[in-house]
Amino acid sequence: VKNIAVLTSGGDAPGMNAAIRSVVRACSYYNLNCFGVYKGYEGLINGEIEPLNARSVRNIINRGGTFLKSARSKAFRTVEGRQKAHDNLKKHNIDALIVIGGDGSFTGALKLSKEFDFPVVGIPGTIDNDINGTDYTIGYDTALNTVVEAIDKIRDTASSHNRLFLIEVMGRDAGDIALNAGIGAGAEEILIPEEDLGVERLLDSLKRSKVSGKTSSIVVVAEGDKSGKNIFELGEYIEEHLQGYEIRVSVLGHIQRGGAPSCYDRVLASKLGVGAVEALMDGKREIMVGIVHKTVTQVPLTTALEKRIHKHDQLIKVADITSV
Ligand code: F6P
Repeated sequence: VKNIAVLTSGGDAPGMNAAIRSVVRACSYYNLNCFGVYKGYEGLINGEIEPLNARSVRNIINRGGTFLKSARSKAFRTVEGRQKAHDNLKKHNIDALIVIGGDGSFTGALKLSKEFDFPVVGIPGTIDNDINGTDYTIGYDTALNTVVEAIDKIRDTASSHNRLFLIEVMGRDAGDIALNAGIGAGAEEILIPEEDLGVERLLDSLKRSKVSGKTSSIVVVAEGDKSGKNIFELGEYIEEHLQGYEIRVSVLGHIQRGGAPSCYDRVLASKLGVGAVEALMDGKREIMVGIVHKTVTQVPLTTALEKRIHKHDQLIKVADITSV
């Protein structure tokens, strides 16, 4: 390869800038040309492509979001859209593409690779940590810290007013943020999509908490939880079925996606950026670089897109034990 393009796609995540920086600097180090594509696949279709050099990415390692901007492109889901994107890549003599994003972005990358035999490498960037074949995704660690900080603050009010707080966190269909931030913030109960504990169990647990002397409670609810009720309905249901609870609902929302990346995310992004460029230099294509046991690894993009077999059992037990 000689000319590599990089784009960020899907939901932004803290550390995406550090990943772009790493890709650009690795290209510079290995004497390759690097191009930035703005607004994800949308920009690829519209030809928003510009050369980047090592100095183009100064002062961004510490910044949240993505300076290349991101989008969830509908047009790229069509054959015509992908054809335009491929034409633009060819126009700039680009011979490989690095996609920083989550599963939707990788699905698009795989299509580009299959339909046009175009070399692509994925870097997992999403706060959800829901990608198969990597222990962590870029942005997840920062989001965890943001969530824990927010819950710590809510706890002050919960304990001052003897209230029960239901706090909704992001994660789409994955419970990683809820479970880990829930344990870190000392939640009484954590509802995750992978494990439907049922509303009745939640009620029992809250009753037991009260009997055991707890005067306030924090319940973390993953946005994709399978209780069949949204968080406001859940709050009303608890209020109807349990006496003496003053309930408040807090949806953390997009504050979870913003902010300066943690050191862990910056280092992870830096490792994966270099790993992606080196993979392309080794002739690898249609793969994702990830991190497994602290080592940069490569898995086929198809594996990255497989359903993750979640390993939450230990954490669920820890959450149960530490919230007695
Ligand atoms: O994938 C990241 C994520 O923040 C999910 O946790 C959430 O479900 C979704 O994106 C929200 O997407 P949007 O910002 O497009 O509303």
